[in-house]
Amino acid sequence: MTRAAAPSLPRSRSGFPVLRPRRLRRSAPLRDLVRETLLDPRDLVYPLFVRTGSGTKREIASMPGQFQFSVDRLVEEVGQARDEGVRSVLLFGIPDRKDEVGSGAWDDEAPVQQAVRALKASFEDVVVVTDVCLCEYTSHGHCGVIRDGDVDNDPTLDLLARASVSHARAGADIVAPSDMMDGRIGAIRRALDEAGYSTVAILSYAVKYASAFYGPFREAAGSTPQFGDRRSYQMDPGNTDEALVEVGLDLDEGADIVMVKPGLAYLDVIRRVKHAYQVPVAAYNVSGEYSMLVAAAERGWIDRERAVLEVLTGLRRAGADILLTYHAREAARLLRR
Ligand code: PBG
Repeated sequence: MTRAAAPSLPRSRSGFPVLRPRRLRRSAPLRDLVRETLLDPRDLVYPLFVRTGSGTKREIASMPGQFQFSVDRLVEEVGQARDEGVRSVLLFGIPDRKDEVGSGAWDDEAPVQQAVRALKASFEDVVVVTDVCLCEYTSHGHCGVIRDGDVDNDPTLDLLARASVSHARAGADIVAPSDMMDGRIGAIRRALDEAGYSTVAILSYAVKYASAFYGPFREAAGSTPQFGDRRSYQMDPGNTDEALVEVGLDLDEGADIVMVKPGLAYLDVIRRVKHAYQVPVAAYNVSGEYSMLVAAAERGWIDRERAVLEVLTGLRRAGADILLTYHAREAARLLRR
């Protein structure tokens, strides 16, 4: 047995000078004709931060060009994104008050819930996804309730389910749990169904690594853990078999879309997940990836526009169907050209 190889070429055309790959690179239309991986603004999801108040659009220092919006300004931003071709958004909430259990997460009057209602009243054709997690809402900044210095899995499930139902009640199309508790997809699915929201979909952050690349986000969302880190619930960066286990469990429990996060350092994981499970796979081009690119471009070290499209193409080529990216608006504009 020989090793599996690429399809062999006819002997008479075994190579140069007959074969010249450069023939198909000679002009832009030729390159366009044979391009294997295409980007489409309809596959992009634009993450946004919503806070209380009105008339507020506050730039996030660690993420130049990204903002915390009050609901009214958020509606404006989403309207502009939509006009540019971005049709899906992901909402994160910044509450005014936090407590031990993160009760702001299931407050029907909290910023995310208000934003969902406002977006649904304003646009018929925008998919509204809500991030479901407690870390923005807990005083300690962890993604669940604390017992003996660690996040206690099972009591956290009910709280995540309550937050999801509250988002569904506001009109969310998709809830996206990012907490990494075991069993949360099943708990959320049951709670949604029991509350009459069987049509609301779940995008699971199924494969979420304990990553340094969330740094800028934690400033944006005010969700830095006050003690320790997230390594007892988020995945170890060295593992990929475990990624398939996580995805399998979440699909069994009712996930409709599964996500790998971060994106760039985990392209192999995206590829493996898409190969193993033919379901919609999302990749999150996270805050640290955004900020690195923007910082290098600000210094004139890389060409921002080309780098943005190259990164997003790489994530698609690895196998992601859906891309969550802070570059959504600029990418949509670049793709219209
Ligand atoms: C909340 C959450 C985080 C991100 C998405 N949801 C932060 C974290 O887990 O610490 C990161 C997003 C980004 O970095 O862009 N659990």
